[in-house]
Amino acid sequence: MRIVLGVGGGIAAYKVASLLRLFTEAGHNVTVIPTEASTRFVGTATWEALSGNPVSNSVFDDVHQVNHVRLGHEADLVVVAPATADLLAKAATGQAGDLLTNTLLMAHGPVLFAPAMHTEMWQHAATRANVETLRGRGAAVLEPATGRLTGADSGPGRLPEPEAIFAAAMALVEGRQDFQLPLAGRTITISAGGTREPLDPVRFLGNRSSGKQGVALAVAARNAGANVRLLAAHMEVPPPAGVEVVQVETALQLREAALAAAADSDVVIMSAAVADFRPAEVSDTKIKKRDDRTDPVITLVRNPDILLELVELRNSTVRGEGHQLIVGFAAETGDSDGDVLAHAEAKLQRKGCDLLVVNHVGTDKVFGQDTTSVVILARSGSEPQEASGTKTEVSAAIISRIAFELNAVSPRA
Ligand code: CTP
Repeated sequence: MRIVLGVGGGIAAYKVASLLRLFTEAGHNVTVIPTEASTRFVGTATWEALSGNPVSNSVFDDVHQVNHVRLGHEADLVVVAPATADLLAKAATGQAGDLLTNTLLMAHGPVLFAPAMHTEMWQHAATRANVETLRGRGAAVLEPATGRLTGADSGPGRLPEPEAIFAAAMALVEGRQDFQLPLAGRTITISAGGTREPLDPVRFLGNRSSGKQGVALAVAARNAGANVRLLAAHMEVPPPAGVEVVQVETALQLREAALAAAADSDVVIMSAAVADFRPAEVSDTKIKKRDDRTDPVITLVRNPDILLELVELRNSTVRGEGHQLIVGFAAETGDSDGDVLAHAEAKLQRKGCDLLVVNHVGTDKVFGQDTTSVVILARSGSEPQEASGTKTEVSAAIISRIAFELNAVSPRA
């Protein structure tokens, strides 16, 4: 496929280098057209090296090839990222002052704008009107991500992660109406991995959680356009790019991080394996073997139930239930008191979360494996939903269920 990648003059231009890589690695032929302003952020040499094609932003280069006509005509897809307020305005009013705006006017195929700007500029009536005009003409304008912007400000206006723009672009080319990222503008906090509860400076009580499930969820949420915060307890896999990582070790640290993160999260997913107990005392020095040969005794105390506290916190706020979706995980085996689903159903009611993702342990080992099989239970009482496959596939199913629930309860503004 021939892709024209227009790069606007915003600080997020550096992220577009990764987007270009995703396109070229998928086998597409990409011509980059940076605006004059954008070359102050990323130079044309970078685009030439990464795309393997000559780069120009002037209609007066290679005039004999009539680039301003040819590039637009030949492109199967035009992507503009970051689409600044200025570029959206120029595109909406049909200006043709440089090679990129000329190309936009000549484009025959789908056009995708991935905006990035300060929140006030994004929300300004002028920008809103330009976006509506472009959408009205059939162009696809993504919702920007929410989060930290260049200065001290934060809000909607961040460039969606390269993988998310890539996913939207491919959906658009396939003619799918749902190219719009389902979690754009949403903030999702995901806890992952296993907590470690120290006994002394060298020893801890831990568990076998690898963090793979939580990381796969973070990737799926990021690719769906969400602003993702990963609360990472001990993990065997590295955190993915494009997510904010908060490192924690113990259940108490995770609790603190989760309660703080919940304040501005649309969704909290507790996929971490949290130790239910911790040693009552943590020795400052290494516990030594004793001369009298008596065995040390470790006394354990209960850790707080973070999931339960998150639900209580959410329900006690002014906005109450409905403004935040809380998702728990449960690893269950059936026993004489009931089967897996009966136990899971009881846990869902006990914890009060909105969705509970249930792993049936025993039949297949979940910890550290790449494949899994889950049932998603909803407190609303809808039918249990099954999902199985790789942790990536299962995570995509969980995230699309979350997006569905979220958009049903609180449609995007
Ligand atoms: N969880 C939590 N805080 C804890 C323990 C667990 O937030 N101290 C969360 C997990 O992240 C998971 C869910 O609660 O989302 C289910 O955890 P689980 O340990 O399976 O539930 P328990 O209530 O401990 O039930 P059980 O008696 O089966 O261990």
